[in-house]
Formats: sequence, structure tokens, C-alpha cells
Amino acid sequence: MTVWSVGARRACLRVERARIKVFDAKRRLPLSESRNIHLAADISFLHTDYLWRMPGSWIGYPYYGTSEFYEDIARVAERGVMDMLFFGDTGGTPEDFGGSHEAVVKYGAKWPRHDMTPMIPLMAKAAPGVGFALTMSTTYHHPFHCARVFNALDHVTRGRIAWNAVTSAYKNEAANYGFDVMMDHDERYVRAEEFLKVACALWESVEPDALILDRQKGLYVDPAKVHRIDFRGRYFNVRGPLPALPSPQCRPVIIQAGLSGPGMTLAATYAELQFSTRRTLASMKQHREALDAILASVGRKPRDVGVLWSIRIQVANSESEAREQERRYLEAIPPQAGLVEMSAQYNVDFSIAKPGMRLADFADEVKAQKGNLGSFEELLKTVDPQQSLEEFGHRFLVDRILVAVGTPKQIVDKLEELHEGTGANGGFILGRGFSAMGNIQDFVEHVVPELQRRGLSKTEYAGPTLRENING
Ligand SMILES: Cc1cc2nc3c(=O)[nH]c(=O)nc-3n(C[C@H](O)[C@H](O)[C@H](O)COP(=O)(O)O)c2cc1C
Repeated sequence: MTVWSVGARRACLRVERARIKVFDAKRRLPLSESRNIHLAADISFLHTDYLWRMPGSWIGYPYYGTSEFYEDIARVAERGVMDMLFFGDTGGTPEDFGGSHEAVVKYGAKWPRHDMTPMIPLMAKAAPGVGFALTMSTTYHHPFHCARVFNALDHVTRGRIAWNAVTSAYKNEAANYGFDVMMDHDERYVRAEEFLKVACALWESVEPDALILDRQKGLYVDPAKVHRIDFRGRYFNVRGPLPALPSPQCRPVIIQAGLSGPGMTLAATYAELQFSTRRTLASMKQHREALDAILASVGRKPRDVGVLWSIRIQVANSESEAREQERRYLEAIPPQAGLVEMSAQYNVDFSIAKPGMRLADFADEVKAQKGNLGSFEELLKTVDPQQSLEEFGHRFLVDRILVAVGTPKQIVDKLEELHEGTGANGGFILGRGFSAMGNIQDFVEHVVPELQRRGLSKTEYAGPTLRENING
């Protein structure tokens, strides 16, 4: 393993940033051309989070293990000209609540989690317009493997794949990959930066026009257009090139969702999209300003990175009906369940909470875990400080992100206000909702037409690739 001096690392970073700019200029349309609301849905937890208890959920589909349900969701998303469906991933079975996995398994709280990679080609075939985002950890995987898998997925989806590059903040996942102690937060980001550098270099190692396929001359690929990368770093030594033909997008659309300082810097340096869980317009505006400042410091423009804000949408024909659906969903969630999920999210045992304790009482412990600190700070900033932990815990599953409940008009009013208020630079990713897949169906049937009627979202796909669509 080669350990680089700080100067050498900085020099390499400068070169790499210059390379990325060249790459961007050649192969990426600026997001600035579009003020559309871009639409995505997080479908990671449609099989858990009590949706399986709700009337209408999973009816007529074999549960979870087969592709029919997901293929149909892709078709629904395509009817709504949605840009992307997203699968998150963590590979652990949390034991934070009460010191064992009993609660998460009993309640089906973010458990089980299958590897969803094989679903992607099937969904892509069912819905040829929609893009797909898949998560792969920079802490537990190798950039060569990652570059190869995403190159293959980009080929097979014909240019509709995105990579959610996560640094992984969960203890039990660390334990499954051989770590007794989870790698420190900031070091995870140092490794992530090197990981992204290597992966991007591999995606560029074979030039887009390298394939000749001249049957008469017997010439397959132009050797002058295939390059070793000879990367030697602190974590990875990779010779290259990627033994693969360049894929339609050359590299996947890159997404990063960290809210901490290093997370924001990584997003600003490499990503085209960022996921964010800010909960109020004021906090969203602050986030956008902070991201724009970091983008400027790394030589990129605000419109090079769109933010997809996580939002839960509950739509019905009348406000009272939407509120009734909310009430029924909340009722289906056991009172303890939010705390179980909070424990998994922050690596802290909230089962020990005493009556009357508040979120702020756990701040030091959450900080000490160095996990999802950014999202916990967002809760401290935006949740009523007088609310007890029990009360908030009960609503955590439904209230931890932005929420819009009401008629299509009320929902689109809110989306428009949030979108315009943050510079119309990205869009929204739907979080969990009332039933699976009813919630996405309702969104496409009732909310999307109103968005399109107001000229806020696309009525047709901008192009065959995901990159064209997020820019269109
Ligand atoms: C919409 C969304 C999806 C996410 N998906 C994942 C995921 O699949 N796996 C994961 O480990 N973290 C996921 N995260 C968490 C972040 O990637 C990041 O690891 C976390 O926010 C901690 O980083 P930070 O300390 O920089 O805030 C997600 C976050 C958001 C907002």
C-alpha cells in the first residue's frame, strides 16, 4: 500500500478535478437548461415499514422475491414520466434497539434487504424510459468491481443507470464486512474520495470511440484508445484499463447523499444529483446555499448538481380523505416502531429512553457514534424541542422527511413553492407512503397530471439516457 504525502494527494486531486471538468464538458449537459421538477421514487422499503400491513399493499403479487411487482412499478413510473426509481442498500441486521435483532425482524423494520441489482435489467426492459439508481458502498466494496458492475448495468439499461455512492453509517453492516469497529466517519469519506477517483478513471480508460469492429481488416478495438490508469493510492492500487466497452453514459449518473461537511464536499466534487432530507423550506434554502458555495470552491456551477428532496406524499380527492389515510397509516405503525428505526438509523439504543426524555437528550450519544449525524442535526433543528422522544418516535417513520398531504392541487402548490424557493434546481424523491404500490400509482394518476398541466414537469422523456432526462 502506498501512502501519499499531503502535497502529492492535493496535486492528484487538482489533476483529477481538471479531468472531471473535461469529462463534464464533453459528456454532460448542464442541468441549468431545465427548471423542471424532476421526479424520482425511493422504492427501497415498499416491502417493509408496515406498508405490507396496509390494505391494498402487495395484493396479487408474490411477496418481494420475484420481479413482477417491481416491473409494474417501473411501468407506473413511466406513465408519470418519472426520471428515476431508486434502491438504497445497507447490508446489516441492526441490533441497536434493545441489543438484539429481535425488534427489527419482528416488525420488519428495514429488514429484510435483498440485493436488488438483478431487478434492474428486468425493470429496465419493462419500462424503457425510466432510469434506475442503485446503491453501492465506498467503504465495503472495491472501485474496480463497482466500475465494472455499473458499466454492465449502463449497457444493459441502455444508459439509464445511476450510482448512489454511500459511505455507510451502520455498525452491523460494518460487522458483516469484517470490521469490529466501524471505520471513522471522516476516514470513510477519505476512502470514498479515492474510490470515486479510481472508478471515474476506469470509466474513462477506454475512449468512447475505441470500438472499430472492422471485419475486413480484422480490427476490433483501437489500442491507442485504451489506457491503463496505473493508480496507486492509500486504499487502492488499480492498473486498469476497465476490460469493457464504454457504456452509453460512459459513467453512471453519480448521486451522493451525505449531509456532513465531507459528505457535501464529496457531492460537490463528483455528483450530478444529491439526495437530501431537509424538512423545512428554510432549511432547504440553507442547504442549497451551502452546496452552491462548496460547488464554487471546487470549480463547478450550482446547476451542475441538482438536489432531489425526500418527500412523503399522501394524495386523495379531498383533504379529509387524505388525512384519514394518514391516520390509518399511523395507526398501522406500532408505537415503538419509530424508535426501533431511529435506533438503527443512529446506532443508539432508544429502548432505554425514559418517559419525558427529549430528542436533544440523546444528541451527545448520537454524535459519538459518528453515523448519520447530519440527519440527526436536521431533526434537532426542525422538530419542536418540547416534543417528547416517545411522541416524536411514534411519528419518526412518517415525519422524518418533508410531508405533503392533501388534494392534487394542494400538493402541487407545495411542491411548486419548495421547488421555486430553492432555485428550481432538481426535484423530489418520494419516500414511503400509504400503500405499496398504491401510493406511487396515486401520485402518477393525480399529482403528475397537475404538475404537467402547470408546465412544472415533463410530458415526455427528453432522451434515451438518464443523464439526458435529469437535464431535460
Ligand atoms: C434519499 C437517501 C437515500 C439514502 N440511501 C442510503 C443507502 O442506501 N445506504 C446508506 O448506507 N446510506 C444511505 N443514505 C445515507 C447517506 O448516504 C449518508 O451515508 C448519510 O447521510 C451519512 O452521511 P453524512 O454523515 O455525510 O450525513 C441515504 C440518504 C438519503 C437522503
